Amino acid sequence: MDNRLFIFDTTLRDGEQVPGCQLNTVEKIQVAKALEALGVDVIEAGFPVSSPGDFNSVIEISKAVTWPTVCALTRAVQKDIDVAVEALRFAKRKRIHTGIGTSDSHIKYKFGSNREEIIERAVAAVKYARRFAEDVEFYAEDAGRTDNEYLARVIEAVIKAGATVVNIPDTTGYCLPAEYGAKIKYLVDHVEGIDNAVISTHCHNDLGMATANTVAGILNGARQVEVTINGIGERAGNTALEEIAMIMKSHHEIDIRTNINTRKIYSTSRMVSSLMNMPVQPNKAIVGRNAFAHSSGIHQDGVLKNAHTYEIIDPREVGVDDNSIVLTARSGRAALKNRLSVLGVQLEQEKLDQVYEEFLKLADKKKDVNDDDILVLAGADRTQNHRIKLDYLQVTSGVGVRSVASLGLNISGEKFEACATGNGPVDAAIKALKKIVDRNMTLKEFTIQAISKGSDDMGKVHMQVEYDKQMYYGFGANTDIIAASVEAYIDCINKFKI
Ligand code: KIV
Ligand code: ZN
Repeated sequence: MDNRLFIFDTTLRDGEQVPGCQLNTVEKIQVAKALEALGVDVIEAGFPVSSPGDFNSVIEISKAVTWPTVCALTRAVQKDIDVAVEALRFAKRKRIHTGIGTSDSHIKYKFGSNREEIIERAVAAVKYARRFAEDVEFYAEDAGRTDNEYLARVIEAVIKAGATVVNIPDTTGYCLPAEYGAKIKYLVDHVEGIDNAVISTHCHNDLGMATANTVAGILNGARQVEVTINGIGERAGNTALEEIAMIMKSHHEIDIRTNINTRKIYSTSRMVSSLMNMPVQPNKAIVGRNAFAHSSGIHQDGVLKNAHTYEIIDPREVGVDDNSIVLTARSGRAALKNRLSVLGVQLEQEKLDQVYEEFLKLADKKKDVNDDDILVLAGADRTQNHRIKLDYLQVTSGVGVRSVASLGLNISGEKFEACATGNGPVDAAIKALKKIVDRNMTLKEFTIQAISKGSDDMGKVHMQVEYDKQMYYGFGANTDIIAASVEAYIDCINKFKI
């Protein structure tokens, strides 16, 4: 069996479906180019029929990347396939990813159908897609809970119809690794013509087994894995790309290789986390802040004597270098530029100057400026074209008194001011804001998070505001968490479709 493992990245499709992770087209192109540089084989760029935004992103990503295959998702529906074909028209290499639910529960409750009819629909979709693309992948949604015998019949039929890749998703993240591995083996052993297609894994992490299941799939014959950066994705997420890449790289006995340039893993992880406002848990394998931090005395002693005692991966292999930590007020523009480029961000001179000014202000307030701070600063100019900006904010608060906030906004060049009291400083500031922007909006979710440690740290605020029956996501980052909260609220308002 071939020892090449294809990496199919679905950060921009399954990952981007996560509430709050939505990117605009420019940001998606940035991620797609980083994925190309990382060496992924396939980029799933979106689900074109689902929205004009997805349709447009597939077009622009197709134009922007050269080497990876660009893939578009569809249901087993002709209209979806037509729209995907249209969106993929600029792709140098294109793939249509079509499919249908095959578990009894999907057949009965989702489609009100029966097993034979589902096979017919699957075959018809693959045949139709093959009219427009040589590369057609079929997904058997909820394959994890689909009876193996029936699944094998579906897979055999779609391969006969022309599917070049067959995707076996554990959609609900239910399978045990041995069970998922056995499922792949069952297909290898029982599907006539299986050698004419690549078997793909697509594992969700609901029970924390996505990576283990994916590895079980590979060991039993799968040669494509569907993964996302940092494991982001629906609910508990998808299999993390960086974990599979490093498992294959570290376990030589498996003798399977990917095309991933692992030294770009860390910068890609940071970029995705920053653009999607999705923090990486500190103990996340490979890319978490503590992934290579040895804190116990015994471990530190061992690592100092010989890194192999406690380190199975040299951090440099994933692009984490020793000087990745601190920049201070004495660091120059060149150091900042170098740091940004390690993190995968290239800025023009003028933008770099602006970010540097902001960096100096932050470095004055904060002892160490770390990678996350820098990424926030580099992204800060994304707000420059916003219609509403925070001019100033003053808040007084304390124990036993009501908080008072006075706040100034600049709305399309015009200045507005308001004052309010509230139950705490954030409440007072948002009430003042609402006096100026008088709309029927409700705060639905509000999370504050320190980026690293230390009382001088930057606070990141994620917000969800409901307006006109729609949810809007906003983000703010500031060493002052009240200001970060107001910025996040303003970020939401700037996104309102008015
Ligand atoms: O989880 C899943 O089943 C999917 C399919 C649409 C491929 O994401
Ligand atoms: Zn999925």
